[in-house]
Amino acid sequence: CGIVGYAGHRDALPLLTGGLSNLEYRGYDSAGVALREGDGVTVYKTVGEVDALRAETPETSEATVGIGHTRWSTHGKPTDENAHPHTDCTGDVAVVHNGIIDNYDALKAELEEKGHTFASATDTEVVPHLVEDELAAGESAKEAFQAVLERLEGSFALAMVVGESDEIYLARKDSPLCVGHGDGETFVGSDVTAFLEHAREVTYLENGDLAVVTPDGVTVEHDGESVERSVEQIEWDADAAEKGGYEHYMLKEIHEQPQALRQALSGRVDEMQGTVELGLDLPAEYLRSLEEIQIVACGTSYHAGLYAAHLLEEHADVRVTVHVASEYEFRGGRDPWRTLVVAVTQSGETAETLGALRDAARTGARTLAVTNTVGSSVTRAADDALYIRAGPEIGVAATKTFVSQVATLALLTVHLGRVRDTLSATEASEILGDVRGLPGAVQRALDADEQVQEIAEAYADSEAFFFIGRHLGHPVSMEGALKLKEISYDHAEGFPAGELKHGPLALVTDETPVLAVLTDGANADATLNSVKEAESRGAPVIGCASDGRGEKLLDAGFDVPSLGEMEPLVANVYLQLFAYHVANSKGRAIDKPRNLAKSVTVE
Ligand code: G6P
Repeated sequence: CGIVGYAGHRDALPLLTGGLSNLEYRGYDSAGVALREGDGVTVYKTVGEVDALRAETPETSEATVGIGHTRWSTHGKPTDENAHPHTDCTGDVAVVHNGIIDNYDALKAELEEKGHTFASATDTEVVPHLVEDELAAGESAKEAFQAVLERLEGSFALAMVVGESDEIYLARKDSPLCVGHGDGETFVGSDVTAFLEHAREVTYLENGDLAVVTPDGVTVEHDGESVERSVEQIEWDADAAEKGGYEHYMLKEIHEQPQALRQALSGRVDEMQGTVELGLDLPAEYLRSLEEIQIVACGTSYHAGLYAAHLLEEHADVRVTVHVASEYEFRGGRDPWRTLVVAVTQSGETAETLGALRDAARTGARTLAVTNTVGSSVTRAADDALYIRAGPEIGVAATKTFVSQVATLALLTVHLGRVRDTLSATEASEILGDVRGLPGAVQRALDADEQVQEIAEAYADSEAFFFIGRHLGHPVSMEGALKLKEISYDHAEGFPAGELKHGPLALVTDETPVLAVLTDGANADATLNSVKEAESRGAPVIGCASDGRGEKLLDAGFDVPSLGEMEPLVANVYLQLFAYHVANSKGRAIDKPRNLAKSVTVE
């Protein structure tokens, strides 16, 4: 989602909608603005793109202060009511928000008890209502905002305007916000693209900051104390800024993985109790009686499905089959009612995946969509939906959504295992501990980017690339090969390590690097035998390894921290970076590879 704000001397309305257009690449299912006018606040919001919002607003306004938002849904469908800004009962407090308020259910119940009525299904709406109560108790706008922040759990970037004041109030926790300094005017953005054509001097807020914006600038408090935040000069152009300073969206999205993972887990995991809360409608009784899960998916999502299948079979004791959606024919097992068909799809719009899901639904199976896109076709077609919350992915080659899909499916595994009594609380806590360790472990892999670049460039001109792994390392090897072929156009193949000797070995030479997944959950010892086979044919071997496995055999190694069954996902991050750097050294069109589309809506 994207946030904008303006406090100055010009008409705020066109500046806000202009800023929202700049941010549309972050999410685009609905948009809105709140203008401070007279002694009150006027809100315009609508489902659709920013142009739809423009059609709802007058061309000009008297307002010189306002905030705005463009939304990518995580809670609640894209509707006019769910669009931001959200207001309180008086309509005088308006709030826009990025992130997730984990404890909104409890806060909403408390507010409803006090007589507040809610207009939307969003988590955000609790904030203006809480502020309303503080204002009614005689607090100033800033005090009210501060008191409310103390009650919020989760991640947020918040901007608020209130009728009685000319200021904009900002808060950030785990979701970015920045302020642009103009001449007698101040801009707000979830990133600098919101206002780059108007202001290049920027203050970035830090976690825990509360800021007050006026036309003269920004004052910042942290833990109730005034603090100075530095002003930085932005040299990027708008195009580079959209990519957060990275050369390509794909690289930005690779680096966003720790944040994407935190969002996937936010508010869902109780590691101590060994439980997860996914908000599923599928009743526990049905999940207990389940005999079979059939996963349908394409491309990267298919690989995520293969990974999840191992987890589900092992921990939830249920038979799982994984199908390339275009090859799927519903057989329904013995009892379609005891078969759950899970469509894994980032976009929620892939025609073959939708077709497979609809076929299954027609024959009586229950269906679940696991997707990144609230309100997408798959969520309308399926009985239930589980969101991976990765945020918009622009690069055609899927990266952050893969890890978010697997992490979300790992939570589903724990949920099923607990409901079906195949997983003890202790075992569940261990798995959840590993899943929660992912953001940090992935960050460590990302921090080694320079090393990966060096090795990728050294082998970039190879004839072909082979990726091998076993068990959970197998889908990762397939995904590694897919990334490389998608963006570098080099020949790459990924297969179970054991299959090397049954064919591909004939192609292995000193011109064909072999990339091996040598981690926990990937039968690394057996894979080392395959590594030896490749090595003795002169192939350079690159390993993604934990516990120093294969050190003596490898020509290059990437270090995977200890993380149980989640280790192969960290290996995958190295393979993404490897593919990226090989492709970039060849000057490929990384974000839009030839012949490929982000979402394939024809069969
Ligand atoms: C296209 C994309 C792939 C993606 C696949 C499935 O082929 O280029 O990156 O993995 O579709 O997309 P979905 O949105 O269903 O996950």
